[in-house]
Amino acid sequence: MSHKSKILVTGGCGYIGAHTIVDLIENGYDVISVDNLSRATTQLLAGIADITSVQVKNYAIDLCIAKDIATLFAQHPDISGIIHFAAYKSVPESVAQPLSYYHNNLASLINLLQMVQQYEVPYFVFSSSCSVYGNTQQLPVTEDTPLPRAESPYGNTKQIGEEIIRDFSHTHSGSRHALLRYFNPVGAHPTALIGEIQPIPQNLVPYITQTAIGKRPQLTVFGNDYDTRDGICLRDYIHVCDIAHAHTLALRYLAQSTADNRCEVFNLGSGTGNTVLEAIAAFERVAQMPLPYVIGARREGDAAAVYADNQKARALLGWQPRYDLDDMMRTAWIWEQRNTQ
Ligand code: UD1
Repeated sequence: MSHKSKILVTGGCGYIGAHTIVDLIENGYDVISVDNLSRATTQLLAGIADITSVQVKNYAIDLCIAKDIATLFAQHPDISGIIHFAAYKSVPESVAQPLSYYHNNLASLINLLQMVQQYEVPYFVFSSSCSVYGNTQQLPVTEDTPLPRAESPYGNTKQIGEEIIRDFSHTHSGSRHALLRYFNPVGAHPTALIGEIQPIPQNLVPYITQTAIGKRPQLTVFGNDYDTRDGICLRDYIHVCDIAHAHTLALRYLAQSTADNRCEVFNLGSGTGNTVLEAIAAFERVAQMPLPYVIGARREGDAAAVYADNQKARALLGWQPRYDLDDMMRTAWIWEQRNTQ
């Protein structure tokens, strides 16, 4: 009979979910995963087992089907925390298929909160995104920065998700909630046994590593006429293992908190921004090779600059990002080379 706390990680076969599972196991938690494998495979579960020697069980159920989650909770009534990653996350796809995004990202959340209520699950951690801030001009963005209308249905599912949890926390006194707003998670586990899998790259760093390895001819830098130090878009890149550890810290924080507020929001960013050219320079430095790139047109919807004020996570969670931009690029590059073989 295990005396460890049992944590349900949804989306455990995905990029951030898998890194978080490793961090949870290393900090003494028991983990079960729910992932319907619609956007992932079990590849990262195998990598988790290689790193931790723990074979995490994944339940391939759809969180939008209430009776299937009810069955899972009947089997695991002792779940003491939920970390909810499972969601669709492509901005352009959400513009093309808004109903699919609203249904998938919100029905799953509501079904899980119903279980929180029914089983008195004390801790709930939600994957939110800096996309809730839209194209804000207030930099760095703090958790109090007013949220403008979301730029996309995807961003809106995160705003609405946060509101659903906040409203729920007002009426339900049996649980505490952390809303974690990720900036740009990149990099891979230092063992290179897990990392990001994007067959068609959607984000900058997979695009850089796939270009370097020869899968893509060149990278296009989207625009060079922005109002930033070198005219190039600036973002807050943060190592996925730092993001992962923040979830463990959030569970500990919720367990210790006696605050009246049962729903707390945290920015998870490095606190400093880097431009795409600075990211390329870091890559070239650690990979010791030139990266072929051209300057192209602006990408529609891109904000010039976004970076986090992370003081709240540092102060309340005791979070301290440990990896710098070079580490992010180095681990992403080692992972790309290993994953491509
Ligand atoms: C995107 C999502 C955001 C999500 C984040 C996850 C949008 C509008 N936002 O943010 O919701 O949380 O990914 O990491 O899609 N770039 C290039 N060339 C490329 C690809 C990207 O120059 O081929 C630039 C972009 O202009 C941007 C930066 O690289 O300045 C990062 O882009 P990306 O990785 O797509 O992330 P975001 O757009 O910041």
